[in-house]
Amino acid sequence: MKIAIMGAMPEEIAPILEKIGNYTTTEYAGNKYYEAKYKNVDLIIAYSKIGKVFSTLTATTMIEHFGAQKLLFSGVAGAVSPDLRVGDLIVATKLAQHDLDISAFGHPFGYVPEGSVYVDADKEMIAISKEVAQSMGKKIKEGIIATGDQFVANEARKNWILENFKADALEMEGGSVAVVCNALDVPFFILRAISDAADMDASFSFDAFLETSALESAEFVMQMVDRIIEK
Ligand code: ADE
Repeated sequence: MKIAIMGAMPEEIAPILEKIGNYTTTEYAGNKYYEAKYKNVDLIIAYSKIGKVFSTLTATTMIEHFGAQKLLFSGVAGAVSPDLRVGDLIVATKLAQHDLDISAFGHPFGYVPEGSVYVDADKEMIAISKEVAQSMGKKIKEGIIATGDQFVANEARKNWILENFKADALEMEGGSVAVVCNALDVPFFILRAISDAADMDASFSFDAFLETSALESAEFVMQMVDRIIEK
């Protein structure tokens, strides 16, 4: 089996590469892809760079070029739900693109013909995440993640995303990775640790907590990989 582990930023995959230790590096389509044998599976690891376009390219490359059969995304997010604090983990049940807007034609936000507002994440991996959380003694929140090509640092935009997508967290890659994996029939799991509250302090909070929150998420995702391999 080949499992893809993806992040958007170097900080999001650094703890994973550190844990794996031994890997080869291949440059392809403007990115570096790290390949490793881990236990009895093959891993392909990469960060995409920020945003929906780069994450679409990377997820597609991992699947179509490198042959990934499952994809796990690890990274950080802005909290929308008041239940979520810096460092908390959120598992996406479904994802949407909050900046996809052809509402001028009467369509709901996040919808284009032949698409859907939400894309569901893999239920099996969500179930595994509950087992992992229990074994690690960690709390996880399951919820909706909204994705867009915007760093949200504004209460009004955040509240708009809450009202229109019932989102619990927001970020800049999950929704596009979800579309790719869904179209190519590859089960996917998106995990994020909160780095900020998508409010006027978001950029300061993001800078302060990127590394620690990325580590929280990466450690959990590696436990997920272990559990997937054991099954
Ligand atoms: N990722 C982490 N925090 C974010 C925010 N406030 N907006 C968009 N993506 C994020």
